[in-house]
Amino acid sequence: MMIRSDPDAVRPPQVRFLVDGEMVTAPAGEPLATALAAAGYLGLRRSPRAQAPRGAFCFMGVCQECAIHVDGVLRQACMMPVRDGMIVELRGVP
Ligand code: FES
Repeated sequence: MMIRSDPDAVRPPQVRFLVDGEMVTAPAGEPLATALAAAGYLGLRRSPRAQAPRGAFCFMGVCQECAIHVDGVLRQACMMPVRDGMIVELRGVP
């Protein structure tokens, strides 16, 4: 079975935002956790005790593994749509 994308589909505009000072683009409205994963940012924070890298797990606001700082406020990346100019801090997590 072959799946083809609709050439007439309307694509959302791209937005640009900063992740630890690096410019990232993503479709407007895409969940931030998804946009970060697509851009290669899989580690979002470190576990408090072992300092092991942690990443988004449930993508539906339950696990809290995607908690990161956006514009200086701790947010759930999976529940937040990307928007132009947002500043995301991963603080050196791989
Ligand atoms: S990935 Fe589980 S709360 Fe965001």
